[in-house]
Amino acid sequence: MAELGHEVIGIDVDAAKIESLTRGEPTFFEPGLPEILRSAIATGRLTFSTRMSDVAGASVHFLAVGTPQQRGSYAADLTYVDAAVEGLIPFLADGDLVVGKSTVPVGTAERLAGLVTAGSGAQLAWNPEFLREGFAVKDTISPDRLVYGLPPGDAGVRAKAQLDEVYATALAKDTPLVTTDYATAELVKVSANAFLATKISFINAMAEIAEVTGADVTQLADAIGFDGRIGRRFLGAGVGFGGGCLPKDIRAFTARAEELGRGESVAFLKEVDKINLRRRDRVVNLVVDALGGEPYEKRVAVLGLAFKPFSDDIRDSPALDVAVRLHGLGAAVTATDPEAAANARRVHPQLTIADSLGDALRDAEVVVLVTEWPEFRGLQPADVEPFTAGRTIIDGRNSLDPVVWRAAGWTYVGLGRP
Ligand code: UGA
Repeated sequence: MAELGHEVIGIDVDAAKIESLTRGEPTFFEPGLPEILRSAIATGRLTFSTRMSDVAGASVHFLAVGTPQQRGSYAADLTYVDAAVEGLIPFLADGDLVVGKSTVPVGTAERLAGLVTAGSGAQLAWNPEFLREGFAVKDTISPDRLVYGLPPGDAGVRAKAQLDEVYATALAKDTPLVTTDYATAELVKVSANAFLATKISFINAMAEIAEVTGADVTQLADAIGFDGRIGRRFLGAGVGFGGGCLPKDIRAFTARAEELGRGESVAFLKEVDKINLRRRDRVVNLVVDALGGEPYEKRVAVLGLAFKPFSDDIRDSPALDVAVRLHGLGAAVTATDPEAAANARRVHPQLTIADSLGDALRDAEVVVLVTEWPEFRGLQPADVEPFTAGRTIIDGRNSLDPVVWRAAGWTYVGLGRP
């Protein structure tokens, strides 16, 4: 927002985060973020604080706190959203606009709007966020669409004008804009993620069928992807989806639909979830099979810990899950990741995590690729052979060329491909 010319103050309850951001250091890995953070701070338009009272003077207030899965249930935990709104209300002025970005169960915006308007002269809009980790800067500066969930009547007209001012740069570039009500805006977000999750599980279901028929799911994805109605993106079969969004969002969606008495409408998302989780079992089983059914004390190299490349995020990461499960079976696992090693060490101190690829590969009988970082995708047998004891590679992201590896004498095992 500061880069786009606005004057911005970022508030968080976590003092360590605020200190780090004030120094121009992001608290997580995101390509391009350090540069844009520092340049925005240098303009003087971006500051940070832990004091909610410092929002005074701002006219638009974005709510961007997390909505993780609740403990003991599949529903979203709204504690942080509620606390942020409650903390903000005393500092809102007449005519201010509160803008919800967090992914919330449908119905939340309506409830929060009641609190905001009763507690101040401000209004609320819901403006879901579609950025992808790893491409967050680009997706924020040049979003592929904007969605405004607005209150009815004049309040909605005023809120739209305020948002149009915030997003003037994107709107000038003809970014598609959908102006709608709260419920639709909330549902756009969860249904977009549900659709993406379904697309991935669809291709992974095809991978399961391919595995018992000898078909090749990567060629199948190419072939169906040429149909413009289907499209090739998000048809990458492999160890499945993870992260802080798709898994918990499909669960929160089913939980909310059940509360609304419409559980059957999205019951298929439970299948989507199950197919996805089965792929992790599949990768673990392939490794165990490659070790002759006896993983105990066998050396395994796990390439990748982040839930996807260009991220250090390990939330619900399939890669980390595979490493932890193999460790739990008694295998001598050494994992590595270009960015997520520190996070993985913190959460799973029992894992052996190497800082270099060579150290991870050393004496490995089986190599498992589970996050398709460019440095792993680009591996050639000759890069790996000086280190490993065995010649078996399990490609959990179908990102290597089987022909090359087999020609070099390796046993190559992909997911859903011969
Ligand atoms: C996802 C959505 O793509 C964003 O549009 C959304 O804004 C975001 O969630 C959110 O709700 O905040 P993200 O979690 O960053 O973004 O990651 P994705 O690129 O969607 O990937 C999710 C998972 O699916 C990763 O584990 C990835 O490896 C996996 N995936 C992706 C596949 O297994 N196959 C594919 O073909 C594509």
